[in-house]
Formats: sequence, structure tokens, C-alpha cells
Amino acid sequence: MQHFWWMESVGYQIYPKSFFDSNDDGIGDIKGITLKLDYLQTLGVNLIWICPFYDSPMVDNGYDVRNYFDVAKEFGTMDDVKELIEQAHQKGIKIILDYVLNHTSDEHPWFIEAKSSKENPYRDYYLWHDGKIVDGKKVEPTNWGSFFGGSAWNYEPTTDAYYMKIFDDKMPDLNWANPKVQDEMILIAQKWLDLGVDGFRIDAVSHLDRAPLEDARANEGEKYPLDWNKFSNLPRVHDYLKRLAKEVFNQRECVTIGEVGGAASIIEGIKYSAFDSKELSMVFNFDHNWCNNLHEITHPKKLKTNVKALKNVFDRWQTAFKDIGWLPLNWLNHDQPRLMSQYGDYRYPLASGKMLATALHMMRGTPFIYQGEEIGMTNFPFEDVSQFNDVSSIANYRYHLERDPEDPVTALRKAALNSRDNPRTAMQWSSDWYAGFSRVKPVPLVNPNHKKINVKRNLSKKNSLWYHYQQLIDLRRNSIYKEVIIYGTYELIEKESELHYAYLRKDDERTLLVINSFSRKKSTFDLKNYQIIHRVISNYPKTNIKNAQLHLKPYESIVFEVKENL
Ligand code: NOJ
Repeated sequence: MQHFWWMESVGYQIYPKSFFDSNDDGIGDIKGITLKLDYLQTLGVNLIWICPFYDSPMVDNGYDVRNYFDVAKEFGTMDDVKELIEQAHQKGIKIILDYVLNHTSDEHPWFIEAKSSKENPYRDYYLWHDGKIVDGKKVEPTNWGSFFGGSAWNYEPTTDAYYMKIFDDKMPDLNWANPKVQDEMILIAQKWLDLGVDGFRIDAVSHLDRAPLEDARANEGEKYPLDWNKFSNLPRVHDYLKRLAKEVFNQRECVTIGEVGGAASIIEGIKYSAFDSKELSMVFNFDHNWCNNLHEITHPKKLKTNVKALKNVFDRWQTAFKDIGWLPLNWLNHDQPRLMSQYGDYRYPLASGKMLATALHMMRGTPFIYQGEEIGMTNFPFEDVSQFNDVSSIANYRYHLERDPEDPVTALRKAALNSRDNPRTAMQWSSDWYAGFSRVKPVPLVNPNHKKINVKRNLSKKNSLWYHYQQLIDLRRNSIYKEVIIYGTYELIEKESELHYAYLRKDDERTLLVINSFSRKKSTFDLKNYQIIHRVISNYPKTNIKNAQLHLKPYESIVFEVKENL
């Protein structure tokens, strides 16, 4: 099997707006990241993924890029970025950036040109179409819905035409079938690699090709159905990525992780990122993000993890990629609710938080921690719709309200439970004012629970979640178990259990038995097939084994080095 540097890395995702404010304007910034490099080094990570900081009108918090070669004023300057790259590299930390290639901002100069006339040389940089006449009225070319609600088309009066935009009206989609667009995006990637970045997380990568313009099937009363098949994983995406890989990525030692989201099955994932695909190093999928009843409930305490579904997802991806590819390992990111509020247990925050960390970090792949996960940050207690900042949270609230206009309380609760504003609250550095994130009132929300959940407090307690993460990272990067944790095989055991997620990791020298209880209930695990050599890591100080039965406490998680009794 091929070995690359990024297989031996541990990543950390930073949402710059809410990480650390270095200049007292209430917004996190690039210098803020540089100031926290020591923190990241102490935690042990050696790869950071930074969400977009490019010049942008910030309709979608930076995923609407106005200038790929400049930094948004609120985040700093190009010099700040150069300084960050240099200092990070000195500490042995590599940096990857978000590469946003499906769309630009409508304020990008290409789009300003493109919309000005049908003859403009930039016109074909985007996807334009005339409207359709229905009952004597001009309407969108198709009924396709967009991810953020409403139509996937927006009307542009200057040239009396529609442009496609599968996210927000202010994020027109690029026309990848135009080789000039490909050339431009190649230049952008090259420029950032020349500046010293070590790779990219590639945004919305599965959407670069479009199906023929035929209406999607709609349910009754549905005006704009969201049909992923119209713009996901279509054949030409692979041609575009092969060109990018050949001309840019494979020329360097960089890493590329495509966001294929809910759009890609395992088979698609393999097409993008198997070692022989010659496209991407890895893909982020979201299949494990929805293994609960989140969409059916209105109160967080009613959330219930479907353990069998969750481990089935992990197992299928781990098994499919065995020998032929590599996976990133992340629980959640800046687009999903917080891990502790999704799969953690509010009655056992420490035990469940540590268990979740172990369950993920002991798998085969490259772990990515989302900022604040290492201290157990939770969702925000939303009380009013005005607290939402994110376009899709607002759209989601409206969606629920339209269905039941008499019940704004339920609409708010539903939108709050999976709002993307949850993971974007200010990083909780201390119990001080504004969570130690800033010295002035921050632009991101500050979760009131920062009094209890914060970095400073975690660092002051040897038993904290933070130290558990540090220990897991250390095991993977520096211990005698490094080889087996990184490159060992993965094998699910106790497949039918609804309480445990247990698996084996093996190489020629060692076998690790990883047992995670996803339950508040006490339970037992049968150890008679194993001789225990060493307890590698656990989330309780004492382990209770009697007559070859392991007695697990609520959310107990334990890794043993074992020999199998074959
Ligand atoms: C995926 C990003 O993670 C998300 O935050 C963004 O809104 C969309 N892509 C559009 O760029």
C-alpha cells in the first residue's frame, strides 16, 4: 500500500470567524490562529484546515468568494497568512485551505462582467439560461430546488436570463465545462500552493457537472424539489478532477479532501479517491452524521442515537476503503450541530465525550477535530430567530413556519436543533467575559456555558476531555501502537450489539481491541476470546473484569492490546 505524509497526520478544523480575535474587533482572524499555534501544538495536531478567509461579502460566511487572491479585511492581510504558514511550518504543522470551486460570489469581477451582456467574454464562466414560458408567464428554466431553499435559478434582469445557483442567490455556479474556468481555478490552486499551503479541502466538489435541463419530480404542492441527482456525481466531474490532479495536485506533495457530502455513495467515494482514481486523496462523507432521530424531534433531550446504523455506516466505509484508499475521520464540521449535542449524553458529558473521541480516533484514516470538540462544546440555546446568522438556518426556520404558521415556537426549535450556527459560536477559551475569545462583544454568539466548558478549565484538570484527546493523538503519532493505529486492518466485532461499537485493529505485530459503549446502561462484553496484554487507553480509572467478562459502566470506552485465542 502507498504511504503518504497525510496518513500519519492528525487534523484540526478552524472556522476563522469564531476561533480567536487578536485585534479586538469581535471577529476571529488569521493572527488569532497564529497566536494559538502553541495551543494546537500542545494538543498534538499537525495539520490544520482553515475555512475560507478570502475577500467576500460574507453572505455564506466566506464560501461566497469575491477575490481568491485576497484576504477579507476582517480576517487580516496576505502578510498575516504568510506569517501563519511560516510559523505553523516551523512547528511542524501543515495547513490546508478551503478551495471553493463550484461557485463564486455575485460580486466577483467575473460575474459582474458575465451579467453585463450576453456577448461578454466572461458570460460562459457561469450557467445561463432563458426562462420558460408557462401560462404566458416567464418562469425558471427548470423546477430544480437549491440547497438553501427556493429555486436553483435566479433571474438577472440586465440580460433577461436566469443563472444557476444551487446554494444562495448571491453564489452563482461556475460553468466547469468551459476550459477557461478550469484554467482559472488551476491558477488559484497553484498560487496558494506556491505560497506554501499543503493542500485543500475542496468545497462542494461533487456538484461541478449538471444533468440535462429536465424538470425534477415534485411531490404534491412542492414547487422547487431538491433533487441531488441533477447536480451531483455526474460523469464530467471526474474529468475536471483528473485534469486538476494531473496539472496541479499530483505535481506536488499536497493533500486534497473533497467534500462529497450526502451526495456520494461509497461507490462514488471510491471513484473520487481510491489510490488509483488519480483524483483526490480522500473524501469527506456525511453518512454517519444522521444516525439519530434529529429530524423528528423538537427537544434535544429526546435525541437518540441509532448505534447499529452508526456503526454500520462506519463499518461499510472502513471496509470498502480497506487496501484501496484512505478516509478522513471526522465526527462533524462547521455545517452540523455540535458533537456533544448530537451523539453525546448531557448526563454523562465526560464519559460520553471521551468515548466518542476514542471510537473515532482508533479507526483507520486521518482524524480531524472540529474546533471546540476537544473541550466538549455544545449547541447554542437559541431563544429567538434573530440570533441566527446562517443563511440556511434562516431558510430552514421559514420552511418550518410556512408549514405551520401558527407555531413559530416549534419552527424555531426545529431550526435550532440542526442550525449551522451551533458549531460557529465563539471558541470557549476561558470563563472570562466573551469566553476569552475577544475583549469586545463578539460578532459570533457566545454560549453561556463557557463558564463551565472552556479550554482553561480543561487544561487545569488532568482528567478532562482535552487530555483524553491529547492522549489519543499521542498514541497515534508517537507511541509503540502508531503503526497498528495508522495502518492496521479494521474488523468490526459484535456486529449485532445495539449498545457497543467494538472493533479490532491488527498488523503483524499487534492487535488492538477497541470497545465503546454507547449506552447509559451498564453492560458486559465477553473477553474469553482474548488475552489482555495491556490497557492502552480508557475513560474510567478502573476496569472491571470478572470471569472473562468486562463489566462496562455508562459510556465506558477502552482499548486493550490483546492476543486472540484462536
Ligand atoms: C459546503 C460548506 O461546508 C458550507 O459551509 C457552504 O455553505 C457550502 N459548501 C457552499 O459553499
